[in-house]
Amino acid sequence: MIFGKKDHLVGLDIGSSFIKVAELKETGKGLALHKFGMSRILPGTIVEGKIMDMEGLAKDIRTLFKSQKIREKNVAISTGGHSVVIKTINTSTRPEQELQDIIYSEAEQYIPYDIDDVNIDYQALGESEFSPDQMNVLLVAVKKDLVAEYIDLIHLAGLNPKIIDVDTFALQNAYEILPYESQEKVTLLIDVGASKTSLNILKANSSLMMRDNVSGTNQILEEICGQFDVTVDEAEQAVNGEVNDIVSQDGIREISLRLAQSWCSEICEVVNTYQTGASDEKVEKIILSGGGVFTEGFKDCLLSELDADVSIINPFEALIVNEKKFPDSFITKAGPLAPIAIGLALRRVDDK
Ligand SMILES: Nc1ncnc2c1ncn2[C@@H]1O[C@H](COP(=O)(O)OP(=O)(O)OP(=O)(O)O)[C@@H](O)[C@H]1O
Ligand SMILES: [Mg+2]
Repeated sequence: MIFGKKDHLVGLDIGSSFIKVAELKETGKGLALHKFGMSRILPGTIVEGKIMDMEGLAKDIRTLFKSQKIREKNVAISTGGHSVVIKTINTSTRPEQELQDIIYSEAEQYIPYDIDDVNIDYQALGESEFSPDQMNVLLVAVKKDLVAEYIDLIHLAGLNPKIIDVDTFALQNAYEILPYESQEKVTLLIDVGASKTSLNILKANSSLMMRDNVSGTNQILEEICGQFDVTVDEAEQAVNGEVNDIVSQDGIREISLRLAQSWCSEICEVVNTYQTGASDEKVEKIILSGGGVFTEGFKDCLLSELDADVSIINPFEALIVNEKKFPDSFITKAGPLAPIAIGLALRRVDDK
């Protein structure tokens, strides 16, 4: 992938707990990590995907760009979870030019919103596993009011939103450029963020099943706040090991293990649905991302309940990283949180 000067974009992942920003640079030796930074936003700034404090969030974005000395104004952002519907639908095989009309006329039955309230996009995935006369199409619908809100936010931050992607696709984008990853094995990408979890089962760069749910690390913080009468900030510091005298470590451990087990059960259900469906292929590889990877017991639980290799993503592995700018200790902590921003930074202005 060659970036022309004009078409490169800064990837901006606006999570409900952390915003992350990444800029890549084409060098003679390959694609390099040019800029990367993260900053925590105040709890309550984004609730169920909705921006509650536009001014505050725009300021956080401006501050993050300033602190990382990012001058490029063209950005790629993404939305996910609450107002995005992703479905694989089945329709009779037809040429690409005819697909658009049929998708628009059929979309209504698959989307729980008024069709006039959503932007629709789609991608032909190829022949259906059921019949050669049928094809699978990936249908994506994003609520227009949500997109408008994010565009306003980016303008308010003094930036130009060039691409509005979907979190799950941006993550897949980052995963696909990783070296050594066998793309032939059925692979499950799991992102457990603060407020949502996204699951994407892939084979050979094609999505076979996608699911979102509202599990996330906020559940841990909420339980700690309730049990120990502390603020969300204090709970977060306790979970991150920054303070250890206000909340008992055993208490955190018990809550983390219990929630990890519950996330794991939800994931097993999706895997079982996939495995008992049309395909008799097993999920062989699981790649974890998002703040949930730090939750005690989560990876072990998946390992013990699913017969698959489980690893934590490090999207920096695909890039040339200057150790002086980004020391190993930083890369280890930031790696699981970074893939969506990196996947977005890989996009170019003229991408669909
Ligand atoms: N080093 C760490 N140790 C423990 N927990 C951590 C660590 N780093 C992050 N977390 C947890 O992960 C959360 C952030 O994860 P992430 O950045 O994936 O969420 P997000 O993208 O902001 O949320 P969402 O995608 O759901 O909107 C934090 O709120 C925190 O609870
Ligand atoms: Mg996230």
